[in-house]
Amino acid sequence: MVRPDDWHLHVRDGEALQAVIGATAAQFARAIIMPNLKPPVTTTAQAQAYRARILAALPAGSDFQPLMTLYLTDATSAAQIREAKASGIVHGVKLYPAGATTNSDAGVSSIDKVTAALEAMQAVDLPLLVHGEVVDAAVDTFDREAVFIDRVLMPLRARFPALRVVFEHITTRQAAQYVTAVCREQVAAAPAGQPPALTLAATITPQHLLYNRNAIFSGGLRPHWYCLPILKREEHRLALLEAATSGLPAFFLGTDSAPHAAHLKEHAAGCAGCYSAPHALELYAAAFEGAGALARLEAFAGFHGPDFYRLPRNAGKVRLRRTSWTIPESLPFGGNQIVPLASGEVLAWQLAPGLEA
Ligand code: DOR
Ligand code: ZN
Repeated sequence: MVRPDDWHLHVRDGEALQAVIGATAAQFARAIIMPNLKPPVTTTAQAQAYRARILAALPAGSDFQPLMTLYLTDATSAAQIREAKASGIVHGVKLYPAGATTNSDAGVSSIDKVTAALEAMQAVDLPLLVHGEVVDAAVDTFDREAVFIDRVLMPLRARFPALRVVFEHITTRQAAQYVTAVCREQVAAAPAGQPPALTLAATITPQHLLYNRNAIFSGGLRPHWYCLPILKREEHRLALLEAATSGLPAFFLGTDSAPHAAHLKEHAAGCAGCYSAPHALELYAAAFEGAGALARLEAFAGFHGPDFYRLPRNAGKVRLRRTSWTIPESLPFGGNQIVPLASGEVLAWQLAPGLEA
């Protein structure tokens, strides 16, 4: 299959970055790098410096390309958006509702506060990447994504109809259905022979395709299955699998691999995030094979993302081999250990070593 890209990834900084970046670079040609560092990446200068640190942390000979994002705050100006677009290295701006997840304290307190930035993004055609959960304490954790669609996403898209939006790491039937409906309309509206002008897309993680919320509670509390948005019921997993394997161009691969040291997940207030970078493509292959849709994996992993982001598709190829191997129980992570997603489980596919040109 064509060499894939990861359209949603956390690689952290410092020794954590050093520990994880090689795993992604071995699987993917490019990745959209999330900006939720401490402090967050809010300016183009910070994104440039972070990009340089990522490139410096790569194994020798790697041609992996980090695609940078800015972290939207109430203070982001239209001028900062124009500067980001002009840089050529910033490919999106991430909206975290303040308090929604890891390092989101500096996030957006209300959409009205970021009107100027969103207008500028629409004008210069810089995509908005959204963490789609409301933070209202009155809304049940498992309902926060579905409520976000009605309360935030639909009004936002009505106000900024040309703004291109990626609904990140979708986890619900409601999100899959909403993105599917918009995509079908936009595909139908495209002139014959022309690619559709999509203004809405969604990334889907391996954990949300493979597991439902029972995984968090099976035989005890399992912190390594805890991420945000949290795993949902089986009906939602099935809807996501249907969307991912539909062939619709609005759905593409975004691992949301989000490394945290094992001791900070196995904790009284455990961190949210699943670490899937070392075996991401194999996990997706398992999900697609389970749905009888392996033939659709290549477009999900390698075509739809670059088409939406208006970047060239990769030229190289990778090969997945059928074999049987066990996901390690833990891996080194700076001075600590990290537990990869589905550690100890057996996978039936493995990425063959060495990327083909
Ligand atoms: O589970 C998550 N982990 N969800 C997020 O939105 C953030 C991420 C992280 O940075 O750890
Ligand atoms: Zn994320």
